[in-house]
Amino acid sequence: MLSIPAYLEKNYWWAYVHPRAVQLFEREWLVNLILFGNYNRLRNLALDQLGASIHGKTLQVACVYGNLTARLIDRMAPAATLKVIDILPIQLANLAHKTAADPRVALSRCDASALPDPDGSFDQALMFFLLHEQPEATRRQTLQEALRVLRPGGKLVIVDYHRPRAWHPMRPLLSLIFKHLEPFAMDLWVHGIKDYLPRGVSVTQLKHSTAFGGLYQILVLEPTASLRNETLFCASNSVSK
Ligand SMILES: C[S@@+](CC[C@H](N)C(=O)[O-])C[C@H]1O[C@@H](n2cnc3c(N)ncnc32)[C@H](O)[C@@H]1O
Repeated sequence: MLSIPAYLEKNYWWAYVHPRAVQLFEREWLVNLILFGNYNRLRNLALDQLGASIHGKTLQVACVYGNLTARLIDRMAPAATLKVIDILPIQLANLAHKTAADPRVALSRCDASALPDPDGSFDQALMFFLLHEQPEATRRQTLQEALRVLRPGGKLVIVDYHRPRAWHPMRPLLSLIFKHLEPFAMDLWVHGIKDYLPRGVSVTQLKHSTAFGGLYQILVLEPTASLRNETLFCASNSVSK
């Protein structure tokens, strides 16, 4: 039986859980404002990592406000499939409402930190601004699960916050927002996302770049071995945890 994680109820009821949250936040201008005008750029950077034309089986880990999923579907090849998971029925209902029905797309209520899919089920997975909202243990589990359900040679695309440069004009404001509204987000200013990867898994970092003065990061990881068999392969540019 799935339940709503305590961290979500406690810290993000106002953003995702409350029925009025969807009414309030599902506005592209507001989502863009929250990202200081960078929404389209970050969305496109994420989708570009999946391809101009997206093939195979894609997993989107958690719904998002805005048109990320609709744009992802626009890029899907005819035989491609997409599974979007979220723990909140209200978010899945909102996504169903704002995207046209498509037999290639499945929406499913799942916990990102305990996915029901078998090992190696997907060719690529996308996490857009999810990890900074999770407490450390859940963040670690979520990364582990995403890597587990990817086939070796698949791709995990992550877009999230990153420590901005010291002079960044938004730094004080964002520190304040994190302090009062986003209790786990500062972790991503202190640690690299790779610090939360499971031990015993080998991944290749295909890309790591930052945007908007370092405030955001795009990380693309390729699992080089199945998490299940725990064999550590050491490619020259692999990151072993
Ligand atoms: C992807 S994140 C943040 C996205 C971004 N701020 C936006 O909406 O534009 C928000 C979503 O993550 C979901 N979420 C949080 N923890 C989750 C978990 N453990 N499993 C599945 N979904 C989760 C929330 O229910 C919410 O719909």
